Amino acid sequence: MIYATTLPERGTFEAWRAAARRAISHRIPPQDMAWEGAGGLFAAHPLPADPGPHQVRVGAGFLKLAGSVIWHSEPERFALLYQALWRLDRQEGDPLSQADPLGRRLHLLAKNVGRDIHKMHAFVRFRECPTDGPRRRFAAWFEPEHNTLEPGSAFFVRRFADMDWMIATPRLTARFEDGRLTFGPAARRPALPDDAAEGLWATYFANIFNPARIKLDAMRSEMPKKYWKHLPETRLIPDMLKDAEARVARMRAAGASQARPGAAAISTRYRAAMPQAVAAEGLPETLDAARAAALQCQRCALCSAATQTVWGSGAVDARLMIVGEQPGDHEDLTGRPFVGPAGQVLHQALAAAGASAETVWLTNAVKHFKFTTRGKQRLHNSPDRYEVEQCRWWLGLELAFIRPRVTLALGASAALALTGDASPLAARRGTVERGLHEGPVLISWHPAYVLRLRDPARQSRALAELTEDLRAALVMAQSDLAAPLPGTRSG
Ligand code: URA
Repeated sequence: MIYATTLPERGTFEAWRAAARRAISHRIPPQDMAWEGAGGLFAAHPLPADPGPHQVRVGAGFLKLAGSVIWHSEPERFALLYQALWRLDRQEGDPLSQADPLGRRLHLLAKNVGRDIHKMHAFVRFRECPTDGPRRRFAAWFEPEHNTLEPGSAFFVRRFADMDWMIATPRLTARFEDGRLTFGPAARRPALPDDAAEGLWATYFANIFNPARIKLDAMRSEMPKKYWKHLPETRLIPDMLKDAEARVARMRAAGASQARPGAAAISTRYRAAMPQAVAAEGLPETLDAARAAALQCQRCALCSAATQTVWGSGAVDARLMIVGEQPGDHEDLTGRPFVGPAGQVLHQALAAAGASAETVWLTNAVKHFKFTTRGKQRLHNSPDRYEVEQCRWWLGLELAFIRPRVTLALGASAALALTGDASPLAARRGTVERGLHEGPVLISWHPAYVLRLRDPARQSRALAELTEDLRAALVMAQSDLAAPLPGTRSG
């Protein structure tokens, strides 16, 4: 006699486990069990409703393996698991071992499921949806290879606990609303709105793309083509691949960590008369051309991990240039300097000093974000002397084209970049030094340093000093006390 049972789309593991226990309690052998598709079997009987006399006990190893295999799309998975259970119960060999053909097959299915869940975590791309409520709403469409939305959703619950979201797949839909996860019927691919995050992903992807490291097979196996259609960044792949050979050639010509030809002399060159040197040597002739060149910068290794070059912003005829250390996480993603927490402190201090970011030129000593990753976090790392010196090329061009009367160095890296002096900041803060470009450099605290101070009294003193330095720099910039760069603006 053949017994048949059909398992539900959701809660499949619990349902299979209950049915398998019942079947084995009646000692129904694997060849007499039809899992799924029972409707086609005329002779099939439903499983007895009551448990039989035989009780089965299995270890945690089997339950863990079964808890993974069950999500595979292989139609035979329920039957294979039942065969293993039957053999475990009868102590017929070791059906969970890699040496056993059944064990090998089950482990392979479990591995495929693990990989599919991993791909889902990596490749689901949410898009923001409009809402009137207090929680932000996101939706994503994804096509997993196996039935992995249910086991894979816990990750998104942990990660996006403070938002509402939905992941729709052709088999099942997961919804997380007001802190509660529910599953609903399968969905058709919805029309999801585009949002800014897509552009960000594309920029990020284009910038981390290293043509010298292309291994197409590895790339296809890590990011199989079938997922490409869900990923905004992969639209760029064909073009990036087309351009890859030329980019490798350009990278070789530039040298991975060596300065470009002529770069070694830059600090002495802009000490003299940068605009003439620019014209004579065919270097960028405008600020825009300098910026465009900086976007391609590979003068040191920082470009390989950062999202993009963060160029300066503000008034191109500013009398005051403010130089920070390097972009942080927010700046790296948006491409604009001083938009993160340290930036807010700076904007506050600027406002208190009676100026705004639009009237000055805001930039950094180093134009790429240097960080180490911890889990999902990107933690700031200060640039080293070599990186500061490599990036001085760009700072020199900004100085040459903006021609500020005064430069304000925020923190030690900026002071090093502008003056060449790496000595401690405490003794220098509030003083004016002579820059490598011959212009005056006022030294101050970095706003991130102000933010890091734990003691409220020290913190408000440091903020007051930063504001005072900004005020002093603005006064100098407006007066004739500060001489412009040699051969530049006269007033
Ligand atoms: N810190 C900096 O030095 N620069 C920025 O742009 C942001 C934070």
